[in-house]
Order: sequence, then structure tokens, then C-alpha cells
Amino acid sequence: MTATVEELVRSLTLEEKAGLCSGADFWHTKAVERLGIPALKVSDGPHGLRTQKSGSDNPNDSIEAVCYPAGCAAAASFDPALTRRLGEALGREARSVGVGVVLGPAINIKRSPLCGRNFEYYSEDPFLAGELAAGFIQGVQSEGVGACPKHFAANSQETRRMTANSRMDARTLQEIYLPAFEAAVREGDPWTLMCSYNRVNGTYASEHTQLLTEILRDRWGFTGFTMSDWGAVNDRVRGVAAGLDLEMPGSGGVNDAKLVEAVRAGTLDEAVLDKAVTRILNIVLRAADLAARPAVFDKGADHALAVQLAKESGVLVRNLGALPLQEGQNVVYIGAFADAPRYQGGGSSHVNTPAAIGAREAARRLGRQVRYAEGFPADRDQRDEQAFLRAVSLAEEADVAVIFAGLPEVFESEGADRRHMRLPDCQNNLIARVAAVQKNTVVVLHTGAPVECPWAEDVSAVLCMYLAGEGVGEATDALLWGEANPSGRLPETWPLRLEDTPCYLDYPGDGITADYREGVFVGYRWYDARRMPVRWPFGHGMSYTGFVYRNATLDRDTLTEDGSVTLRVKVRNSGAVAGAEVVQLYVSDATGCPVPGGRVPQVLRGFQKVPLAPGQECEVSFTLTARDLRYYNADLQDWYAAPGRYELRLGHSSRDIRITVPLQFVTSRHLPLTVDENTPLGILLADDRTAGPVRRMLEANGQAMANGGGDGLMPPDAMAQMLDAMPLRGLVNFGGPQVAEALPALLETLRRAVQS
Ligand code: BGC
Repeated sequence: MTATVEELVRSLTLEEKAGLCSGADFWHTKAVERLGIPALKVSDGPHGLRTQKSGSDNPNDSIEAVCYPAGCAAAASFDPALTRRLGEALGREARSVGVGVVLGPAINIKRSPLCGRNFEYYSEDPFLAGELAAGFIQGVQSEGVGACPKHFAANSQETRRMTANSRMDARTLQEIYLPAFEAAVREGDPWTLMCSYNRVNGTYASEHTQLLTEILRDRWGFTGFTMSDWGAVNDRVRGVAAGLDLEMPGSGGVNDAKLVEAVRAGTLDEAVLDKAVTRILNIVLRAADLAARPAVFDKGADHALAVQLAKESGVLVRNLGALPLQEGQNVVYIGAFADAPRYQGGGSSHVNTPAAIGAREAARRLGRQVRYAEGFPADRDQRDEQAFLRAVSLAEEADVAVIFAGLPEVFESEGADRRHMRLPDCQNNLIARVAAVQKNTVVVLHTGAPVECPWAEDVSAVLCMYLAGEGVGEATDALLWGEANPSGRLPETWPLRLEDTPCYLDYPGDGITADYREGVFVGYRWYDARRMPVRWPFGHGMSYTGFVYRNATLDRDTLTEDGSVTLRVKVRNSGAVAGAEVVQLYVSDATGCPVPGGRVPQVLRGFQKVPLAPGQECEVSFTLTARDLRYYNADLQDWYAAPGRYELRLGHSSRDIRITVPLQFVTSRHLPLTVDENTPLGILLADDRTAGPVRRMLEANGQAMANGGGDGLMPPDAMAQMLDAMPLRGLVNFGGPQVAEALPALLETLRRAVQS
């Protein structure tokens, strides 16, 4: 292709331009043969290719492909290097079948464990989700294929997903629902991005100028093209004007005609359409150029990678000692998931793989002697008395009973939210019965999201495999038998019960509006703020070895607005086997300054996974800037950190902090403050610009006033609160005419002080 994109746009007719802004079919953009513009082929999805077979007219009839751990599992690796490798492999495979853009990663925030699509998403924490997304995107794109982070934005439920209005305040949007996309864009530089179905504060994501243009392009510098989720377009003309470039999968020409009409009628500037076409063509041509590079795709090697990624994603959430299993033990596997594990979710991310085996088959291939009882089926909640009793009796005779449990496919899928957080009763009942007769009971979980585990305290060990992809059987085997050491961490809190979850009262809303009333208190932010007990906390995960932290040091103990500090800590593998630790860094605001909307007790701001041989020690470092201390202040319409003391907490999980290091933040930035006669003294005394004059006024007017009128009749704290609450005008009641006279001048001084 010799013509530039600019020349092509000039040569296109209005109809061709409108046509280029929607798909030719489910998986392709349109070609314009007379100008040599090729079609671009896109394909799901986040954890494996879902590419339609050539010759098939069913968009869901996919070629065989490698199925990697789904987002829920990949996130548990806590390792962007791993999502990067997943992305590289996916990119290679995509190019080998002519796919130019892979529709992933899916990075919506896990607001409720009930979201039917949580299995595809990464985390309840935007920082973790963003770092993992950036790794994935870099990986895919390093192979000459585009990535497509989705679904932008605030798409955290499946109930009425095509119209539901996610309603939230500005801080919540900025602090929780946007940062993963920001990191994906800034660090990953994706070729494309997919908008979500839902509305955000009343406007469809597919026509949301603030999201698609002001934030995405103007603020974050996104240069690729945006596409709609499949069928997410409401008003096509408004969408193009807002910054939605490509409609997928198209509308049989209906919406293209509307674009043409709007340009002709003068309601859509042709230059706006040209921009959309330019952005699409930039990528179409880039993909066509790169498609010429040879594609090396080795299915065998990629299966091995899928196994390895699954091993690194398994989370050992409990272990009193039943794991790892030992050769020579009498082990019984129970539950149909041992043969037919769940390893991916239903819907658009479904990969057609023939290569998944269960842990029982993996054990058989390795010649392990394992007995088996089905106990319960994998696809429904049905108790068979004979199967149940046989499982209990085999468990009783064994040294260890491993129960493979999980959510049947019908419990968890794109398109529908879960109604409860329970495993099927037949599974819960059998686990409880087995645990009653066998102290070495191990539960392996195959779920895409947290489930209630009423038996958790009664079993010896729990290994959460999430939905681990086609390597599930081999990886589970290796982790159970200690050939791999678990190193996954929970990318989300596992609550004790559904009723404890932050949005329990509001999820999924009334079918029209989903009110995000919990605000920024999502996931651990909520459980920590309320100091609630949880089943397993965010960041938790055990190992067959132990890790010791020591010598945490900061290169300077004060941080400024433009500066940075580096925190270093030594971590040692104190056990007898090799393992990997995920060092987590949480920042806590200890300034005591009020935060509108509430203070979040701690926020994840860094994590690093380090493999360590027995006895080996390494140094891990994190560099922080003021940005890591800030919350979004809606009055300021900007990120802000108050001056004062912060804590840098280094830990093994959000609830296993090993070392805390204080950090002083110095800033001359202030929040906007309006002073009038009704401003409480507490606010004025807490602000270094106004504290001096107010204090002087109090001192000049004697004891009664300094006591806030309490006259020593109240406890000191109550008196302090009285003073804190008193408005400026109240001073007149205690200081009389003298104060009344001085008040206008004081007000003037204070106003000037807060303006400068
Ligand atoms: C999903 C997207 C997916 C698309 C194409 C939609 O229903 O929400 O995530 O990429 O279908 O399969």
C-alpha cells in the first residue's frame, strides 16, 4: 500500500467512509477494494482465540485454540510478566490465523462477587488490574497484533447490561472505575479499545464524550481507535461525535446511512467522521503491514505455557498441613471436577480446546496411585445417595481426601449475574461430611469468583484454581503433589457471606439504575474500613515455604509534589523449598485531614513477585511519587494528597503487613476553602493559612472564648469539639462588641489568606 491514510481518506466517498465505521460481519471491518484497503479481522478474547472457522456461517463455530487461564486466574499470578507472556502467545497464535486485533484484556472492576463475568475480569483493585492489563497488551502487541482493553467503563454487572445506568460520584469513577483503563492506555498503548454496553451517569458509554474523548484521548493520550461492544450502539451519530469510531458488528447498513444523512444535513461535521476513519485506517494498515511477518505458532509449546501459567495462578488459601501430598499416601480424589474440571467461563470468551484434562487424568499419566469417587456431578446440584456414601467411606479409609469442587457452568456465565454466592448444596454437604471423617481433607476450587465456604475451618487445605485454562489438570496435579509451589495471591477479597459485600443492598439495582452507593469502598477498601472479618483477604496466598522481610529503608523520609522516594526491603525464603513471594505495598493516609467521601484505610500501590531458592534473599524496591498518595478530590476536580504523615506498609497480603515505614509528605497545595461568618473554627484552625489569625483572635479574647463557651463544665474532648464546631460568628457571643467590631477585618484577612 503506497497511499497514505490522509490520501485514502480524501479518496473515499462519504458512503465508503460511513461504511468503514462499522463491521462487515461479526469479526471483520469492511474492505474497500478499489483503494486496496483490506478488512481487519478481530477475535475474542482475553484468554484464548475464539476465531470463527473459515467456511462456517456460525460466528460461534470456532477453530481449535489454546485456552489460557481466564482473567480471574491470570490475575491471581499477581505478575504482569505472566500476563505479558500470555499476551505474546495469544498474539502469535492470532497472527497465524490472520487475526489483527485480539478483543482483550477484559478489565472491569469486580464490584460484587455476583457479577456473572467476574471470571473474565482481573480484580477488585484498579491498580492490580491496570498493571496486569498493561502486561497483556504489551505482550499481544509485541507480536504485531493489536489488543483491545474492554469494556470502557463501569461495566460491573450483567443484569440488563445493555441499558443499565451505572450511577456514581466523580471520585468513585476516577478512583475505582477508570485507573485500570488509564494504566492500560498509558503503559500498554493499545491499538484499540472497546466501550461498554451500559450507561455511565445517564449517558451510554458508546456516546460518552467525557469518557471517549476528554478522558481517553485528551487526558490519557490514546491514539488508537475505539469500537463498540457488540451491539452497544444507541445513537450512531451521537456516538461518532462523542468519539466512538467503529460500530461492531454493524447494523446491515442502517447506521451507516444515518451517518451519511447526518453529514448531508449538517448535523455531523464531515471532519469528525474523517477523524474516525483516519483512526481506523491507521490501525487497519498497521495490522496489514505486520501480518506479512512470518507467524511462528507452536501449539505444543503453548500448551506447556498454559500449564505453567496455571501453576503460577493457583492460590493456596489454607493449609494446616495436608498439602503437599506425599508419594505412598493413600489418596482419594472425590468429585466429578477431578475428571471434568471447569477451566473457563461461558460466553464470548469461550475457547474451543481439546487439550484440557482433569487432575485425575494428569495423575494417571504420571502413574500416581489415586482412588476416585465421583461423589457429586460437575454440571448440576444433585445428590445421589449411593455416590455420596461411597465417597465418604473411601475418604474415611484414606490418608488424604481431595475434593474437587466448583461452580457448574450454568451457575456462572457472561450475560447473567449470579443470584447467590453458594456452591451447589450437594458439594457443600459432601465436603462437610468428608471433613467430619477425614482430618486431611483438601478442597480444590474451580470457580470464576468467590463462593461461600461454610466448611473452610473444618478442612485442612484449600487450593483455589479459579478457571485455570486447558493446563488445569496438570497444574493442579503439580501444585497438590508439591512439584510446583503455589505462588498465586487472591486478586479479590473472599467474603464470609454475600451479605457482607459492599454493594449488597444495591446490586444489581432496579433494572434501570445501578447506584454505586458504596462509592470508593470496593473490595478490601470496604472490609478494611469496617474492620470486617473476611474468609480470605485481598492479596492472600500461601506457599510450601516461608518468607521473612527485613531492613525496610527509604532513601529519604520526606516526599514533595514533584519528588520521588524509593523504598527498599529485603525478602528471604526461609524454608526448604523454592517458592515465589509477592511483596505487596499498601499506602495509608495517616494525616488525619478529612477526605470528602471518606478515607480509604490503605491502597495497593506496588507489588512484585520474586522467585527465591531456599535460603536466598533479594532486595525489592518500589519508587513512589505524590501520585501514589493522592485521592480524587471532586471539589478540586483533581487528584490531591494532604500534607502530613503517610504509612508505607509492606506485606504478604493486605491483612498480613510485615513492616510499616512512615513517610512525610510536604506540599503547599491546598483544597479550596470559602470563608464566611459561618465557617466552623475547626476548619480554620486546621488550615495553616487561616489558623494563625484565628488563634490570635481567640487568645486576645480570653478564656471563655478559647473554651468555646464550655466554661470547664465539660470533659476536655467535648470542649474541643465545641470549639471545633463553633462558626466564626459565634465568637461574638463570647467576645461581645469588641469581637463584633474586629470580625469584618478578620474575615477579610482570612479571605485574602485562602485566595493567595
Ligand atoms: C462481549 C465482548 C465480546 C464481544 C464479541 C460481547 O457480547 O461483551 O466482550 O468481545 O461480544 O464476542
